[in-house]
Amino acid sequence: MTDAESTEALLKRARAAESAGEPDAGDLFAEAFSRNPACLEAHNALERLGHPARFGHWMRINCAIHPDDDIFRFFARDGHSRNPVRDYLADGWRTLSELMVLLERLDRPLMRTESMLEFASGFGRFTRHLAPLLPGRLTCADVLPGAMDFAREQFGVATFESGFEPERLEFPDRYELVFVLSLFTHLPVADWRRWLKALASAVKPGGLLVLSFHSERVAEDYGVELGEDGCFFAASSESPSLDPERYGTTLTTRAVVEREIRDALGFEPVLYQPLAFWVGQDAVIISVPREP
Ligand SMILES: C[S@@+](CC[C@H](N)C(=O)[O-])C[C@H]1O[C@@H](n2cnc3c(N)ncnc32)[C@H](O)[C@@H]1O
Repeated sequence: MTDAESTEALLKRARAAESAGEPDAGDLFAEAFSRNPACLEAHNALERLGHPARFGHWMRINCAIHPDDDIFRFFARDGHSRNPVRDYLADGWRTLSELMVLLERLDRPLMRTESMLEFASGFGRFTRHLAPLLPGRLTCADVLPGAMDFAREQFGVATFESGFEPERLEFPDRYELVFVLSLFTHLPVADWRRWLKALASAVKPGGLLVLSFHSERVAEDYGVELGEDGCFFAASSESPSLDPERYGTTLTTRAVVEREIRDALGFEPVLYQPLAFWVGQDAVIISVPREP
């Protein structure tokens, strides 16, 4: 019997044990997970069964991961991570600390935020860390099928389905903080102004819009040459379910980011923080003026 076959056989036994309500089901899933740390079925079973080896026990958050989560798949891809579940969960934790540090710079602590929209929240890589801190104050939106059902059911947040035409979006409310991590890193620059206007309209007067963009240093790291217009777009991304012409990979100079914001909204960001998120994303904070 090969390792792969024996792990599959073990999973089969674990499933049968769970269906029959046998007490060793969790231990069987734990053994399968230790053999294959990318096995989401085993990971999710440990969470569901409340097994002592589950991640939720020490992270004290909901650690269930949706099987369609493309960001998890990115971690699980061959050779990318030796411990994909741990790295995926830690990555959301990192985002939480990065966002908190950023908001501290403006003396607008996350914990004092009265209402927040996490736009383009995916399957909740970050939402799971945020939701327990802002109970009843967090709304999420995305376009991925099933993602918003998952966010509501697992993390107890309010949700709405986004769409591909920003002018048609009907935001259910206006929010003190609108956070959009790694969406503009995928949208063609030609669409940015439309999205900037729509997202700014979802911010309460006096509130903040926090966005991320690829740092121009990333172009050097990736060996990508920006065009004369300071832009690069490739029609491919981590999400095979999205149209690559509308959601690909976008790199630009900082000057392009600042120009697009100025042209779309008519004012400058209150903060431009290089490399604030992940390996290579700059953060931009826009303060939406109070109405006269
Ligand atoms: C790189 S992922 C980042 C996900 C999440 N912000 C995070 O940090 O884990 C970008 C997300 O943008 C979402 N997205 C793409 N087009 C969108 C749109 N028109 N409206 C809302 N979300 C969109 C994708 O489905 C994906 O979940």
